[in-house]
Amino acid sequence: MSLKTIVEVKDLTVNFYTYAGVVEALDGVNVSLREGEILGLVGETGSGKSVTSLSVMMLVPPPGRIEGGSIYLETSKDENDVLLMDDSTLRSMRGKDISMIFQEPRAYLNPVYTVEDQIGEVMLVHRRPEFLKNAVASLEKKEKGGTIEANNYRRMLRSPRSLGTRLLQRFGSKKNLKAEVRKEVVKVLKSVEIPDPERVAGMYPHELSGGMAQRVLIAMALACNPKVLIADEPTTNLDVTVQAQILNLVRLLKKNYNSSILYITHDLGVVAQLCDRVAVMYAGNVVETGDVFEIFSGPLHPYMRALLDSIPRPGKGFRSIPGIVPSLIDPISGCRFRDRCSYAMEICQKVKPPFVELKKGHFAACYLYGGSQ
Ligand SMILES: Nc1ncnc2c1ncn2[C@@H]1O[C@H](COP(=O)(O)OP(=O)(O)OP(=O)(O)O)[C@@H](O)[C@H]1O
Ligand SMILES: [Mg+2]
Repeated sequence: MSLKTIVEVKDLTVNFYTYAGVVEALDGVNVSLREGEILGLVGETGSGKSVTSLSVMMLVPPPGRIEGGSIYLETSKDENDVLLMDDSTLRSMRGKDISMIFQEPRAYLNPVYTVEDQIGEVMLVHRRPEFLKNAVASLEKKEKGGTIEANNYRRMLRSPRSLGTRLLQRFGSKKNLKAEVRKEVVKVLKSVEIPDPERVAGMYPHELSGGMAQRVLIAMALACNPKVLIADEPTTNLDVTVQAQILNLVRLLKKNYNSSILYITHDLGVVAQLCDRVAVMYAGNVVETGDVFEIFSGPLHPYMRALLDSIPRPGKGFRSIPGIVPSLIDPISGCRFRDRCSYAMEICQKVKPPFVELKKGHFAACYLYGGSQ
């Protein structure tokens, strides 16, 4: 299976410069997302899952700073090096090439605008020429031969520079354009299986249940058909039945759109059900990556082994991982897991273990499998 790589994060280092000291949040993270796959990103709280995904969108908040490494992103333009993109490229990349959904859907919806207005705005920002073209076509159909209005639109299409401002000025008064956008909004709401999408389009966020709000956020993320979707614990606050529906929806996205999805979660059960591959994070490092089936049946890194042992199973009991997650201010040398690891050797204290391919497509960073130099 050699699928195209859509996102490739290499040796990514991110620090947060806080009053308490420098938080070394990401310590050379390596992770890649391939076309049409769901990659699970798992790890305990504070291991760096969110910072990794925010980095891909260049949205690490201050006092955080990307200090090293590279991020490749397959985009609709020629520019692929995320760390070198200027502001306007970044703005068009977010939404068009890559979208993100979060844990608290309502926090990302504006309470004073309807669902239609919010999704419509995203669509207009990224797909304006397409909507204009459709609006012109439907105007022409209605009034054969073209009217002054249709001619105006055509002129705007020919001079794309003035398109944005002139369109926005006219947006409110131009029913045709609004009708085009509305059609698309209803279509995207339907695609995330929202019942009665015409009615929901006119609702305000407070009128939506938690599960429905998350679907609206997913619809908004899909409004521009991005190739990549990042989902950061999107089901944490939903009850189990709604959670199952959202997981099914994510599966559907992969099937229908061939989207590449980075799915962040604490829940190994969700990873087992949903993901094709998994990347395991510990204290700012990806310590193991590979096919989900292979890693669950034969985990290599002692942290992943311990994590799987800590899942409670009926009649089997479970073992918690001794010790606590290390502080990322002035973190320990060598392997950051070593003081919780029952296999730790001398070298683990001194040198960080390299992340190496131990079986085809199965990577881990651990001296148990050699790689001492
Ligand atoms: N704004 C910030 N200021 C200082 N440190 C931060 C900030 N944001 C993140 N960090 C630090 O970066 C590290 C990684 O955080 P991150 O939010 O990526 O963890 P996570 O794996 O997403 O955790 P969770 O499962 O709780 O969401 C943590 O040690 C955290 O303390
Ligand atoms: Mg997080």
